[in-house]
Amino acid sequence: MKKLFVVGNWKANKTRKQAEEWIATFNGYKLDIPDFVTVILCPAYHHLDLFLSRPLPISLGVQDISPFPAGAYTGEIAATMVERIVHFVMVGHSERRKYFKESDEIVARKVEEAMSASIRPIVCVSELAQAANLMRLTPMFPETGILLYEPLFAIGSGSADTPENANATAEKLHDVVGDVPILYGGSVSPENVQGFFQQKYLHGIGAGGASLDPEKFYRLIEAASHAT
Ligand code: PGA
Repeated sequence: MKKLFVVGNWKANKTRKQAEEWIATFNGYKLDIPDFVTVILCPAYHHLDLFLSRPLPISLGVQDISPFPAGAYTGEIAATMVERIVHFVMVGHSERRKYFKESDEIVARKVEEAMSASIRPIVCVSELAQAANLMRLTPMFPETGILLYEPLFAIGSGSADTPENANATAEKLHDVVGDVPILYGGSVSPENVQGFFQQKYLHGIGAGGASLDPEKFYRLIEAASHAT
């Protein structure tokens, strides 16, 4: 059985109370996650403590990291600051590329910072060229990296790519990055998720909107756990 990842990204959502309610509801579900499934949730930084104080069967990630080491970089969070708190970090999400003008060079620096702190980078790409640049700028990426392919039209639109199309792109990405897990993201829901788990070149999914609802996130995990 190949490894499957389920990655949730809360983005800039949830008050403290809403985060607590999500955890309380999620905690009520009976989860029996098999070894081949890795569940990662990326809440906002300041909600991490809520998760750390409860024994939930999921790994934690953050949604971004500084491209700089620790030091005089006001407002940034350096990878070493969250070392051993989280094991994953999303890097280069299309919203960061769009609204914060993150270039492939910045993305590569973040990947290097994460890896030097033993945090696995989940690099988001929406086109092949971004993956090619990643490999050129950060040749060590495949050592622990994960690729999250998210076509722009599908993010937050309610209209996911087809599993077959996503798989065809993942095959091309595989040619570029080699043997790293490649995930699909963009309007993944409990209703459409199973098709993505069945694809040869896909190793799981990333979910934004669906991860905000504990029941939907639980159902995504259940779908992965029962994928054959
Ligand atoms: P979505 O977001 O699931 O809400 O489309 C995906 C993402 O941006 O990771």
